Amino acid sequence: MVERQWWQEEVVYQIYPKSFSDSNGDGIGDLKGITERLDYLKDLGITMVWICPIYQSPMDDNGYDISDYKRIAPEYGTMEDLEELVEEAGKRKIKIMLDLVINHTSDEHPWFKEALRDADSPHHEDYIFKKGSRRPNNWRSVFGGSVWEKVPGREEYYLHSFGKKQPDLNWENAGLREKLYEMIDWWLEKGIAGFRIDAITFIKKDLTWRDREADGADGLAQCTKGCRNQPGIGVFLQEMKERTFDRYPCVTVAEAPGVPYEELGEYIGEKGYFSMIFDFRYADLDIASGSGWSKRVPWTIKDLRDKIMASQMALQKWGWSANFIENHDQPRATTKYLRESQQEPEAVKTLAAMYFFLRGLPFIYQGQELGMVNAKRDSIQEFNDISSIDQYERSLAEGCTPEEALHYVNLRSRDNARVPFPWEDGQYGGFTTGKPWIAMAEEYPAVNAKAQVGVEGSIHTFYKEMIYFRQKGPYRECLLYGRIQPIESSADVIAYRRYTDKESICCWSNFSGQTVREPVPKGHTEPVWQSYGKAVLQGESLELGPYQSVLLKQQEIRIKKPVAFSPQTPYNLP
Ligand code: NOJ
Ligand code: CA
Repeated sequence: MVERQWWQEEVVYQIYPKSFSDSNGDGIGDLKGITERLDYLKDLGITMVWICPIYQSPMDDNGYDISDYKRIAPEYGTMEDLEELVEEAGKRKIKIMLDLVINHTSDEHPWFKEALRDADSPHHEDYIFKKGSRRPNNWRSVFGGSVWEKVPGREEYYLHSFGKKQPDLNWENAGLREKLYEMIDWWLEKGIAGFRIDAITFIKKDLTWRDREADGADGLAQCTKGCRNQPGIGVFLQEMKERTFDRYPCVTVAEAPGVPYEELGEYIGEKGYFSMIFDFRYADLDIASGSGWSKRVPWTIKDLRDKIMASQMALQKWGWSANFIENHDQPRATTKYLRESQQEPEAVKTLAAMYFFLRGLPFIYQGQELGMVNAKRDSIQEFNDISSIDQYERSLAEGCTPEEALHYVNLRSRDNARVPFPWEDGQYGGFTTGKPWIAMAEEYPAVNAKAQVGVEGSIHTFYKEMIYFRQKGPYRECLLYGRIQPIESSADVIAYRRYTDKESICCWSNFSGQTVREPVPKGHTEPVWQSYGKAVLQGESLELGPYQSVLLKQQEIRIKKPVAFSPQTPYNLP
């Protein structure tokens, strides 16, 4: 990447609007609720917010099923509320990113309703229909069951890669693309900073529609084989970029699972379709790729390190990365990555520091800054998320007992991250004066914002200090813009070096409850930051306390050309 871009210096906070803050007591978070909490975000050091979909929607998938792109969901407020939020955020130098969901709409979108009503309507071309009395192929949707749903009263099926209330748009139709571009411009004109772009690698399909080899007990094959990252997708993405994003000083972060590292140059960097993409390879290290949640995979810290470093090195080759450990589709990072030490404050901090000083934009998901953990639900009836319910049924069909199926859902459910934000220890955690739409996390009386804000040693204070150090501290240039390179470490430690032509800082994070000793690359003897206590240096080695993170700076600069990295390469500094 040649020129610096304004968005490279942001710290992003992701808000799940339904669960962040309820201003009117109906139990559902809303836009006014977010506006009321802007000072909390400002105080934390946040510079940009990504809000999950807030558009009119029947909420079958909590807003990822849009029935009107230009209206706000009434439960979230009005367009005036959104404008007020953008303005109030602006006063605090916080930018607002919205979610752009353009692979599919809701089945309640007027375009789809018209397509169903009249097969000769021009809107019929806006979606993917196939005539016939049988399902056109054996593809399985992401949320379970066939991707094909029968049109009532006609010998015809429509395609949905996700839920059946989320029909896929037909990107082959140039007229449809024009309507989407017009809508994107309309939002950018409103002064939002940009978009997180949903499921964008799904927009191009394999137009042969051929069956794939079955890969589950249901006899179906995962639709990603024919619905995701298909050849020719770049034509649509390039057109969208030129027609919309390129015309504004906006930022775009694409949810782009499945992009091979060799193709990253098309997606990010100088010529990329987007500013950044999310790489999910390390987020999904606990489950087998492309299978259900019951296909658990044993993993070690070394596996996590290899995946994160492979991702960083691949992204660095072309552009900027979007670093996250949580989002609204993932379990809580504490439970997933720390397992039995999920409630050890120092372990939570070391995990935070490890990802925070990576190269790229840090994304913080609401509640992550409090160290929230997964919820444990005792019955499948307690889940709201459509994907959790499907995964439960799939696990049963694959031969799991109900207890096992529930266990896997508890570990992976998207509801873990979707519980209301705990603002305080009072009833419903100050999230609402009514009854929340989904149960609070059990630990909220102890783990809440009020108990942590301004409290020395709390996880919230740790995040705040870390943000300050990265954004405004003396090593800002190196920590923001420096290149990254993995360094050799023992099995439970993740370590890397950030460096520019003038500075070099090595970062270690110990994920074990034991003291460990790490070799220090030559000259890196000046401690600049640690998660607790002091950095203990003995000659050429650094002693890391249990779950301690330490940053050491190089005394004199001595940069050599970095070695090429693959997960198999030994971790050696040149
Ligand atoms: C990805 C979103 O993050 C997820 O929440 C949603 O269910 C699917 N895309 C479908 O839009
Ligand atoms: Ca509300």
